[in-house]
Amino acid sequence: MSDLIKTELNDRVLTLRMNRPDKKNALTQAMYIGLASAIENAVDNTEVRVLLIAGAPAAFSSGNDIQDFLQSVSLGQESPVLRFMRALAQFPKPAIAAVNGLAIGIGSTLLLHTDLAYAGEGTRFQFPFVNLGICPEYAATYLLPRMMGHARAAELTYFGEPFSAKTAYEYGLINAILPDADVEPHALERARKLAQQPPNALRVTKRLLKHWRQETVTDAIQYEAEHFGPMLKQPEAVEAFTAFVQKRKPDFSGFK
Ligand code: COA
Repeated sequence: MSDLIKTELNDRVLTLRMNRPDKKNALTQAMYIGLASAIENAVDNTEVRVLLIAGAPAAFSSGNDIQDFLQSVSLGQESPVLRFMRALAQFPKPAIAAVNGLAIGIGSTLLLHTDLAYAGEGTRFQFPFVNLGICPEYAATYLLPRMMGHARAAELTYFGEPFSAKTAYEYGLINAILPDADVEPHALERARKLAQQPPNALRVTKRLLKHWRQETVTDAIQYEAEHFGPMLKQPEAVEAFTAFVQKRKPDFSGFK
C-alpha cells in the first residue's frame, strides 16, 4: 500500500485515509487501486466489521486528478476508478465517511455509496462535472434526483457551484454536521459502536436496504462511464482541464 492511502485497523474498524494533502487529496490511478484493494481485502476479513473513509483536515478529496484526465485515463471495466467504484458500492459491511475541507467530484459522489457520512461545518461540497465539460459519475444521475428531487439535483449539477454542509445535510447527503475537529472522533465512535452490533444482522440489513436499487446503480455507473469516457477527450473538457492547469478561467463561448 502506498503512502497515498493509509490503512489502520483498530477495534474492528478499518480506516482508509486518502493522504495527498499537497494536492488536496486529488485522486490518482494509484490511489484508486490502493482504495479498491483495501476495500476488496476487507470483504472477507472477519477482523473488519466497519469501514471508515477519511481524508486530510483541509480536504476529504478534491476529486479525480485533473492532470490524469488530460492523460488518456482508461474507464474500462478493469480500470482503477471503476474497480474502486464497484468495490465501495458493493461492500457488504457498513461504510462511513468522515468529511472535512473539500468534497469535490468523486469526493462527493462517493458519499452516495457509503452508508453514513459526517461532515465538518466548514466543508465545501461540489459537483463540478458540467463546469469541466463532462457529466456526473458514480450513479449520481440516478441517485441524486431520488435523494433530493430533480430540481435540487439539477441546480447542483448544472451550475456546479460549491455548496455548504448545511445544504448537504438538508438534501440528505450527510447524516450530521459537526465542528470540523469533531468529525473524525464522532465518525470513529459511531464506527466502533457499529462494530459491536451483530455483524450478520448488519450485513443482511445493508443488503436489503440496497437490494431494491442495486442493479440500477450498477447499470447507472456503467452507463455514465460510457458517456464520461469519450467526453474527457472532447473540446469542452480539454478547454476546462487546460484552463485548470494554466490557472485561468475556461472559455466555452465558441462551442456549439
Ligand atoms: N486535480 C489535480 N490537481 C489538483 C486538484 C485536482 N482535482 N485539486 C487541487 N489540485 C492541486 C492544485 O493544482 C494545486 O497544485 P499546485 O500546488 O501544484 O499548483 C494544489 O492541488 C493545491 O490546490 P489549489 O488550487 O492551489 O488550492 P485552493 O485552495 O486554491 O483550491 C480547489 C482548491 C480544490 C478548490 C481547487 O484546486 C480546484 O478547484 N480543484 C479542482 C477540483 C475539481 O474540479 N476536481 C475534479 C472533479 S471531477
